Amino acid sequence: MLFPQNIPLLRTLKYNIILPKIPFHLYNRNYCHSRAGEAFVPFDVLVSQRRNEARRSLLVEVAGLPSSADLHQVCSQYGAVRKMFHYATRHGNVRKEMILVEFADAESLERALQSTRSPPTERIIPVHSPFVWLSASQPASPNSKKANVSSSTNITQETVPSDEELQLQLLQSRDLSEQIQNVYECQKLTELGSRLRFFTCRQVEVALSGLFPQACILPFGSSVNSFGRVNCDLDMILELSDVTNQDSTQRLVFQAKKSRSAANPRITMQRHMEVISDILDNFVPGCSQVRKILAARVPIIKYRQDLTDMECDLSMANRSGFYMSEMLYLYGSMDKRVRPLVFAIRKWAKDRHVTSPYAGRWVTNFSLTLMVLFYLMRTSPPVIPPLQTLIKLAGDDDVRTAEGINCTFLRDLKILTASDNMQSLEDLLRGFFEFYDKFDFKERGLSIVKGDDFVKPVHSALYIQNPLERELNVSRNVTLEELERLRTEITHARYRLEEDTQHIEEHGQQPWGLLSLWGTSHKPQAHRGLNASIDWQEVFHIQEQETPPSSNKQLNVSPVHAATKSDEKVPSNGEKARNNTKFQPVERTKMLKEELIMPSDLNGLVTKLKRNVVQKNANGKKNKKQKMNKVMYKW
Ligand code: GTP
Ligand code: MG
Repeated sequence: MLFPQNIPLLRTLKYNIILPKIPFHLYNRNYCHSRAGEAFVPFDVLVSQRRNEARRSLLVEVAGLPSSADLHQVCSQYGAVRKMFHYATRHGNVRKEMILVEFADAESLERALQSTRSPPTERIIPVHSPFVWLSASQPASPNSKKANVSSSTNITQETVPSDEELQLQLLQSRDLSEQIQNVYECQKLTELGSRLRFFTCRQVEVALSGLFPQACILPFGSSVNSFGRVNCDLDMILELSDVTNQDSTQRLVFQAKKSRSAANPRITMQRHMEVISDILDNFVPGCSQVRKILAARVPIIKYRQDLTDMECDLSMANRSGFYMSEMLYLYGSMDKRVRPLVFAIRKWAKDRHVTSPYAGRWVTNFSLTLMVLFYLMRTSPPVIPPLQTLIKLAGDDDVRTAEGINCTFLRDLKILTASDNMQSLEDLLRGFFEFYDKFDFKERGLSIVKGDDFVKPVHSALYIQNPLERELNVSRNVTLEELERLRTEITHARYRLEEDTQHIEEHGQQPWGLLSLWGTSHKPQAHRGLNASIDWQEVFHIQEQETPPSSNKQLNVSPVHAATKSDEKVPSNGEKARNNTKFQPVERTKMLKEELIMPSDLNGLVTKLKRNVVQKNANGKKNKKQKMNKVMYKW
């Protein structure tokens, strides 16, 4: 029987109607008992479990691992401790030992926080947050009650294999498929990594909760889409209000201020983000290098959380980003080969400098992931179905809209069945390189909605349709030059793997399989050492709002912010060359970012710029800031 018992009647009816249109391979076996590997956990359930863990957790800086027994005893006074994780962060020369404590319930954490004291230093403003430190024990006062607690500590320490260990493991793997699986197992986000990401979100939520009790921070991107590496960044969405679950019959209503710029929601959001970034910068423990990038398509606040050791990007009104992550998570859950394959290809792209940790004119991990998914829709038979199948199968519970974007698609994979495709990971990896080696990037775009390619609607070197906002191209930032590099690397990888098979008996201790693909490649100038901590706006005095209109005026932003409506006019290469007599300030900055190699070079560059400004000031009347911008135009 095709329909599991627990599906609501409405949905069952819907399948009945659309059944003839759905490819047979989606129906013939139940997904849950398929080759998908682990049992499927719906995204909502996963997020809610992780958020609950974060609500019960406390992050404590300790002198060292031996303090864990002491800490366990202290925490047990407030309630049962469920788990403890130890890790260390290193920032410059400072090493910090941290323990993440999970209580059995949120009330225990509340009790612990209520009896936490502030540091006795005058210049420090007391802040309540679940980030604390364990002071050295004081001699017990005669009146103090001795807590009757056990100090048995079961502390988890995760170890992530080093690059050398991974290489050794790959050398010893039986075949390429095993290598791909090993890369995934060694590099995927760990349990602690995932907990710390939700906990970092919780910190900001707690910080804002006094004024905004409904504030909700959700992680998205690789932290939750199941394609995240151990040290991936943390993308977050902040929502200040949630009026959906309120009792509208209540007679008492909060007084509230009307926004000063209510007519323009974008300006309102920018103002709110200004305030939030100031709060993070001034008060929230561990937040450093706070930068605002508010003129981007999706304005963000970037900062580093030193105590959980991660780079963070905070945005508002970006729920569709969260649903995009859910969609990727679903694809990762659909077949157990998807995640290892994406990891292997992302690692290859990173090592060959096809992608870069910095935003720029190259392919991003997000675009690359969509390329892998597209390829898996085009295998014969397909490994995964196109998005339109998930949209057709969506039930009433799956309806979601965010920022006016329809994000409705099937959420419960239990009703899907496994693919009939039996190819090994090795076959799929080879197939990926063959497929894109032959792909007509010049004329065709990729759509994971249809699982098919199409004639590119506008000139753009690489066209990958945004699966949720279909008129956008997620890889609009990619230049022809970078696409060519990608294609060259793909061809190289394809032939390298073929060569590898022919000389299989000669492997011995020689790098083979994935190791032969990675190797050392020349790092293009454009990808080199942009120091993420540099505030380019400040260095170059560029006020984003004041920049003249340009086709791509964001500064140091990730591609999510680079996507633009495909119907916007994109200048041809000839037009660009003609326009190039004057650089737009941000374009120039982008070039500087890309051309600079080391932060030390920056000093020289800034000195040079300043010298120019001073010289020009001597001749003209304009002030220094205006002149600085002018230099940026002409140079
Ligand atoms: P890494 O951070 O590189 O590990 O991967 P990531 O998937 O987290 O990518 P990134 O931090 O650049 O972006 C975070 C999320 O924003 C992605 O997972 C997507 O959901 C979304 N995103 C990224 N680029 C775009 C884009 O061009 N358009 C849209 N609509 N969303 C994007
Ligand atoms: Mg990310």
